[in-house]
Amino acid sequence: MIIDIINKKRKGEILTKEELEYAFTGYQKGLVKDYQMSALLMAICIKDMEEEEIFHLTDIFLHSGDILDLSFLDGVKVDKHSTGGVGDKTTLILGPIIASLQIPFIKMSGRALGFTGGTIDKLESIPGFRVDLSLEEIKKQAKEIGLVVTSQTENLTPLDKMVYALRDVTGTTESIPLIASSIMSKKIAGGADKIVIDVKVGEGALLKTDEDAKRLSDLLIKIGKKYGKETRTIFSSMDSPLGNAIGNKVEVMEAMEVLQGKEKGVLLDTVLELGSNLVAMAKGITEEEAKKMIIDVIDNGKAYQKFIEFVTYQGGNLEDFTIHAKKIELKAEQDGVLEEIHALSCAKYVFSLGAGRREKKDKIDYDAGLVLVKKEKEMIKKGDTIAYVYTNKEDFSENCKGMFKIS
Ligand code: URA
Repeated sequence: MIIDIINKKRKGEILTKEELEYAFTGYQKGLVKDYQMSALLMAICIKDMEEEEIFHLTDIFLHSGDILDLSFLDGVKVDKHSTGGVGDKTTLILGPIIASLQIPFIKMSGRALGFTGGTIDKLESIPGFRVDLSLEEIKKQAKEIGLVVTSQTENLTPLDKMVYALRDVTGTTESIPLIASSIMSKKIAGGADKIVIDVKVGEGALLKTDEDAKRLSDLLIKIGKKYGKETRTIFSSMDSPLGNAIGNKVEVMEAMEVLQGKEKGVLLDTVLELGSNLVAMAKGITEEEAKKMIIDVIDNGKAYQKFIEFVTYQGGNLEDFTIHAKKIELKAEQDGVLEEIHALSCAKYVFSLGAGRREKKDKIDYDAGLVLVKKEKEMIKKGDTIAYVYTNKEDFSENCKGMFKIS
């Protein structure tokens, strides 16, 4: 009985594979109700899980739907994941870099929900770009250009989707066992051989402390190993946004700048760290050697060419890719040091401009966005432009308090 399983976890006991299957597969079938699964998730959140339980849960998620077989492609296939960050456009930059080094990069990505951005929405902000490729189209494109980014098929870890949606509304997102099984089931189902995961730490992230981030990282690596998928992690801070742009079109534009070697800084550093791990694993070389190869394909234009090839192949038209919304300057109201650019406040602000969606069916304003001009710790004067806002709204300054701390 489900109530016995909930009670067992409430008392902090270890659930067997059969019990986990009864609860979770039962939930997928509609036999276990939302309120019962909510209670179980909360018990897991509070009482935690042992490694054995986490492995079982990952396996249950993994087998709840299709598992992609990428063996039609020669060579080592790689994938990356991020635990969620404001302004994180690393997939848009890494994909072309990796593919231009002859390593196939086939990624299924998600859409924005709430304050978190989604790679698929960012790509869809390019006129004509298609995100719902069939399996046949994925295979053809992967063989021809080695790079595909498409939306997740409905049947890839469908149980994780159901549980994730419930976690989102029941205060149970921040459980390390639940995060680990959610991420790794998706990555393993995606079919890649080698995986790198960007574990975000900080106030704006799911993981608030270094200790929690380390525990998650260890689990991700161990789960990967169980399935024969070499997994590496990097840690990055999520107190301030990644790069300068937050939104959809503005993030694609920033990714293009980085690919053309026009932007350095933390965003490029993060791309280099993720990329050198992926390339090192795929080619069996050191990270230093891999990093050099990545810098070369940025410098010689191959990575940017691959981006153009990829966008064009998926139907995107970069000639019509412009922002039509108003561009407004946000100015400093005092002299001082820009102590903090608060990631979550920036995300909420951009969301209020229409760049995200409250519910799945909501439409996004692709033009809406924020581009930071000043960096953290920079000296600024009253009246200096701190950022540009792109908006189709009249009341654009309503929610912009709290983004910048000047003292
Ligand atoms: N990303 C995921 O895919 N799942 C989680 O649970 C958290 C972050």
